[in-house]
Amino acid sequence: MTIDAQALGDELLARVDAAGDLKALDEVRVEALGKKGRITAEMKTLGSLDPEARKAAGQALNAVKDRVAEAIEARKGTLELAEMNAKLAGDRVDVSLPPRPGQMGRLHPISQTLDEIVAIFGEMGFSVAEGPDIDDDFHNFTALNMPPEHPARQMHDTFYMADENGDVDMSTVLRTHTSTVQIRTMEKQKPPIKIIAPGRTYRSDSDMTHTPMFHQVEALVVDKKTHFGHLKGCLQDFCSAYFEVEDVPLRFRPSYFPFTEPSAEVDIGCNRKDGGLTIGHKGDDGDGWLEILGSGMVNPKVLTMSGVDPEEYQGFAFGMGIERIAMLKYGIPDLRTFFDADLRWLKHYGFVPLEAASLVRGLTP
Ligand code: PHE
Repeated sequence: MTIDAQALGDELLARVDAAGDLKALDEVRVEALGKKGRITAEMKTLGSLDPEARKAAGQALNAVKDRVAEAIEARKGTLELAEMNAKLAGDRVDVSLPPRPGQMGRLHPISQTLDEIVAIFGEMGFSVAEGPDIDDDFHNFTALNMPPEHPARQMHDTFYMADENGDVDMSTVLRTHTSTVQIRTMEKQKPPIKIIAPGRTYRSDSDMTHTPMFHQVEALVVDKKTHFGHLKGCLQDFCSAYFEVEDVPLRFRPSYFPFTEPSAEVDIGCNRKDGGLTIGHKGDDGDGWLEILGSGMVNPKVLTMSGVDPEEYQGFAFGMGIERIAMLKYGIPDLRTFFDADLRWLKHYGFVPLEAASLVRGLTP
């Protein structure tokens, strides 16, 4: 008996093509390639052939086996894709359906606060800039006037990335502040510059008032005649709009940042009477100050390192902690609860979505 390998191959390939789903395809696989399958059965007949014919027939059968196995793999890919597409089509959700009453999700206070910040600065003519969470030593430190060995680097409790061997890679960091975006913006954009950069920041620090990941918003304004008065006016307008309190008391305290000169930390006036906390001074009793941000005039060295001529331009910058001002405005007592992902907390402190924050309509829904 001679084996018609060609005919067997054609037949099996036709069966593979005809398999309409993964189950049918698997049945074809067992029948063709399985231990009791057609090809195996033909292999067993080889022993009765003379050596010459056995070699030729064996090779032909092996070629059929490979072709069939290949076709099954290819058909499997097609059927899996079709199955997934069918499943996805069946899973479609209609996002325009109204939410079930009482089941509507809530915006996290951080999202709400970010929306409010963007709305206020947007109205003042700022655009939103972005930078990567994982950045290099140059943008996080060196270009901000913190060369290697600068003592201010130690204040940052930096998370360093690992290289491919798992060793600490000192040249790549999780950004410790959004000031990286000052540099990235000046590198690609000529003044006048007027941006805010909200985003996540990271420091290896965890206690009552610190979480390893937190949020900041950076602001940078660079133009020919930018001065400290602009910084002060900008912050005054922002704080009044954000806290919805007219003439919020602000206090500028001399401070030090390597990337600004002069530098100031800014406190907001608040009243801690009767164990509560309200923004703005109301009487002399129990008045206090709370620090909300760091700021200053951009150090000329930073301008130079970012490709901006300090003889022609000057700028101001500030960086503000978002959790801090969210806690102040919404009376959230504990920082760590922001990241507990507790639904009851979110229901209590979260915001009804779908009503975007705007200065005209009101910041809070
Ligand atoms: N980057 C500073 C910090 O994280 C804040 C800051 C930003 C200070 C811009 C001055 C200017 O503490």
